[in-house]
Amino acid sequence: MEKVDVLIKNANELITLKGPNSPRTRKEMGDVGMIKNGSVAIKNGIIVGVGKNLSYKAETVFDAKGKTVMPGLVDPHTHLVFSGSREFELDWKLRGLSYIDIKKKGGGITYTVEKTRKASPTKLFGEARGRLDRMLSYGTTTCEAKSGYGLNTETELKILKVQKKLDDTHPIDLVSTFLGAHAVPKEYSASEYVKIVTDEMLPKASKYAEFCDVFCEKGFFTPAQSKKILEEGKKYGLMPKIHADEIMDTGAASLASDIGAISAEHLLMVSDKGIRDMAKKCVIGVMLPGTPFCLMMKDYAPARKMIDSGVPIALATDINPNCYVENMQFMIQLACFNMKMTPAEAICASTFNAACAINRQDIIGSLEEGKQADIIILDVPNHLHVPYHFGVNHVEKVIKKGCILI
Ligand code: NIG
Ligand code: FE
Repeated sequence: MEKVDVLIKNANELITLKGPNSPRTRKEMGDVGMIKNGSVAIKNGIIVGVGKNLSYKAETVFDAKGKTVMPGLVDPHTHLVFSGSREFELDWKLRGLSYIDIKKKGGGITYTVEKTRKASPTKLFGEARGRLDRMLSYGTTTCEAKSGYGLNTETELKILKVQKKLDDTHPIDLVSTFLGAHAVPKEYSASEYVKIVTDEMLPKASKYAEFCDVFCEKGFFTPAQSKKILEEGKKYGLMPKIHADEIMDTGAASLASDIGAISAEHLLMVSDKGIRDMAKKCVIGVMLPGTPFCLMMKDYAPARKMIDSGVPIALATDINPNCYVENMQFMIQLACFNMKMTPAEAICASTFNAACAINRQDIIGSLEEGKQADIIILDVPNHLHVPYHFGVNHVEKVIKKGCILI
């Protein structure tokens, strides 16, 4: 009998997410590849067997009877590294102030930028590591992280280096995005700052990032400025992503499609044309339901319309000082209760499609032979419980690259 390191056996539901190796759309999103009474075998950090009645000798055996086993959650949109929380804004929000009102009142991104500029790398590292620990405890095994609270070359690089150190030292794998164009710093006009981003920041930042993102929004960066930055980013090998149509429809979803972005993110106000354009080019729509939740908006992104139009959907926390949340299970819950996604769609959006949104679909996002053994065991009898029983942490075990971490 072959010997493996870890065998998880007898899962009431083994949610494999096995399927095509490209972003899943429409009905594909509803097929989580469930195996009843399933087992997974792990050797040297890699999945070597998936199925029913596997016969292996194993160093460590977990009996997952009555439990649900699935791929580690992937959080493909975070603003992980920042200093300067903004709990005082909650009171302003409760008094009816919008995101833009808060920005005008001295809150918002600019407030956090000042604190982040002053923070030492050690302080930023420590704060972000605490967030990663919480993410791991809720089952996230890989996340994306955007810079963007520096808005000058020195601080953007400081953040990107902290992200690299976190990736090197924390069990969660981090995928870095350069978001120098997160807001226009008060020292410059928008056009001056765009030039700094393209000519000064990109050549240096591109060494530490895989993706380039822009906050394309009224009062931030126009579609033309966003296009300029993202096209320039491509020259440095950075794949484009866009913060698109969050507060207003600026046509950013169509821009994402025009320039071949891997994803357009937020999309609360996306137009029908934007949705059609995204579907045509298979741009992944990354939905961030924590944002309308904490901004107390009644309208969430039109996930149903997007899925029905053939847009592949992923979910993410968007963790940032406006939307302070590490928990991807809560995103699955919000997606079901407020965006009418099915539990299966929301799970696909938090695992395989989320992996696609950060170009990691070849190594993570599903439980298939040859993939990295990033696996969570949930103390629930089936996957429907993940959204159904909300407000608690269902994670019992977290296995990353075959190591049992929790
Ligand atoms: O994704 N929209 C832009 N950036 C963040 C919010 C940043 C902030 O308010 O600090 C987001 O929601
Ligand atoms: Fe964001």
